[in-house]
Amino acid sequence: MSAGLAGRRLLVSAGPTYEDLDPARFLGNRSSGKMGFAIAAVAAARGAQVVLVAGPVHLATPAGVQRIDVRSAAQMHAAVMQALPCDAYIGAAAVADFTPRAPSAQKIKKQPGQDVLVLELVKTRDILAEVAASAQRPRLVVGFAAETERVADYARAKLERKRLDLICANQVGQAGCGFESDDNALLVIDAAGARALGPAPKAELAGQLLDIVAERLA
Ligand code: PMT
Repeated sequence: MSAGLAGRRLLVSAGPTYEDLDPARFLGNRSSGKMGFAIAAVAAARGAQVVLVAGPVHLATPAGVQRIDVRSAAQMHAAVMQALPCDAYIGAAAVADFTPRAPSAQKIKKQPGQDVLVLELVKTRDILAEVAASAQRPRLVVGFAAETERVADYARAKLERKRLDLICANQVGQAGCGFESDDNALLVIDAAGARALGPAPKAELAGQLLDIVAERLA
């Protein structure tokens, strides 16, 4: 039987962020939001009060979920920090690590003879690490790690560096899992070990992950 989440407040991030270069162009990524939206939908169906901070995606708001739409990493940071406190934060969004230092107010024009364009990018704030270090730290901070290689090693390093309770590692760059796909496979890692979930539809994985979350919050 699936564990209930009645009375729990969950904060979930989902989707990509778009970092504007000029009024016509941005730096983005392939996240569809499906993984984070599935977590929000299942959590709400299990009785949690859910706030979903969503990057630019084409998905309907799940029933019973309070949705806050954002575009950039800076906007996602502000929305997540403002939505604290909560019992658990689940960071499923693919947040840009870098953003243009100075977005252009006008469309960037190709100069005659120009073959190369150099962009200057600056680091964004790490939302997940800041939530975990916050004075309002949720009892459970759950990250995701999207990796193309050495998935478990890199994810464990993020778990430790960002001081998380759990991290869900997933392989990206392959069909049938990770970005955009309806299915995924997760390696849920904590300080004690790792547990493989799936491959399965994202809604099913969301349920299995929320069983672990509910157990930890009980
Ligand atoms: O949206 P879908 O198409 O369904 O795809 C799902 C997914 C692949 C996007 C999802 O399962 C996933 O892995 N999400 C995290 C993707 C990611 O950006 O991973 P990362 O390894 O770059 O970041 C690690 C963690 O730090 C993530 O929890 C991320 O939300 C967080 N982070 C990263 C940078 C930053 N500035 N702030 C953050 O909070």
